[in-house]
Amino acid sequence: MPVPTPSRQAPAAVLCAVAGWVPPRVVTNDELAQRLDTDDTWIRTRTGIRRRHVAGPGQATSDLAVEAGRLALHSAGLAPAGSPTVGKSPVDTVIVTTTTPDRPCPATAPAVAARLGLDRVAAFDVGAVCTGFVYGLATAAGLIAAGVAQRVLLIGADTYSTIVDPLDRANAIIFGDGAGAVVLRGGHPDEPGAVGHFDLGSDGTHEDLIMVAAGGSRRRSAGAGAGAGAGAGAGAGTEAGVGPELARAERYFAMRGNEVYRHALTRMAASARATLTAAGWKTDDVDHFVPHQANLRILHSVADDLGLPRERCVANVDAVGNTGAASIPLALADAAAQRVVRPGDRLLLTAFGGGLTWGSCLLTWPELSPPPHPYAPLVPHGTGEDSPS
Ligand code: COA
Repeated sequence: MPVPTPSRQAPAAVLCAVAGWVPPRVVTNDELAQRLDTDDTWIRTRTGIRRRHVAGPGQATSDLAVEAGRLALHSAGLAPAGSPTVGKSPVDTVIVTTTTPDRPCPATAPAVAARLGLDRVAAFDVGAVCTGFVYGLATAAGLIAAGVAQRVLLIGADTYSTIVDPLDRANAIIFGDGAGAVVLRGGHPDEPGAVGHFDLGSDGTHEDLIMVAAGGSRRRSAGAGAGAGAGAGAGAGTEAGVGPELARAERYFAMRGNEVYRHALTRMAASARATLTAAGWKTDDVDHFVPHQANLRILHSVADDLGLPRERCVANVDAVGNTGAASIPLALADAAAQRVVRPGDRLLLTAFGGGLTWGSCLLTWPELSPPPHPYAPLVPHGTGEDSPS
């Protein structure tokens, strides 16, 4: 569904900083192959992924989000490096978008805001799985256009290693942990950095394609009403609502990879086209396509479908895997750090994820202080090395 751009009088959300952070521990394909029936060649040719970063023991999503948020505030000139902000809060709203919150309740954003020293700001989570960052951008843009917020810190952060079964070779190879953050301020819709047009969509009839079946109100965690829920399902009315241990498959992230692959291609291409049409842009106007880093084959196929040369596709999935809601801001931070995107370049961001959900957004890159590189780069973009067949 194309989203109408706010009227001329309404302030636009303008990007004024980007940053990314990944946990230091690197897991290579060879390391995965030591415990799973897989190998480096299979993973590289099917996904383009060569390594991913994984949270350490006890490291939660908020820990990653705080690091990325701190770097973004510093890049925006709003906070000293490495310490909490002091005095008047430099942003009035913190949005964290994640599929792996620290806990089911409360949201992760208030704790992140508190740890960044952002006193009494509005803070809440947005959940749209891997589309979360684009939904979060649209939410921030709406708050700024409505005059509810003036400066927003938007963080996409995920620790999929906490929900993917380490013995599930189909999913364990794909996901990595990370966080990316942007700062948005109110500004003019025509100035560089202004975000919009947007296209957002969903199709909940396919919710089963990407799912963690248990742990919510439909199917609760063991020891907290497990087996209850689902109407008069098994376990309802048992003592203290305690039901049987959940099957392994229900506790972990599940994905029907083949079907997801097909949906990702069609939905991302359609969303990108809808956004370009709404803005009156031609494909050739796009200098950089920044898709959700699901799988290099998906990114290249969508670029091909749109008629965009693959060199214009910003891809860092080789180095970080699929980092969920963090993937687009991490790719932006990577590209900004390497000066791949330059002031005046026109960007198309397109995401796809569980729900199903999808979304796209356009922006012209502003003058920004380049962030530190979020991780040690593997190979320069566009060399074609290790391209999957
Ligand atoms: N190593 C080796 N073999 C593997 C494997 C692995 N890590 N994972 C699966 N296989 C096997 C399968 O068991 C299957 O074996 P079989 O033919 O004996 O049954 C074979 O490889 C082919 O499986 P298939 O699922 O058809 O492979 P694929 O080419 O579709 O690739 C994905 C699997 C997951 C890489 C691919 O479907 C994909 O990328 N899907 C999209 C996932 C995604 O991007 N999700 C995020 C969206 S936000």
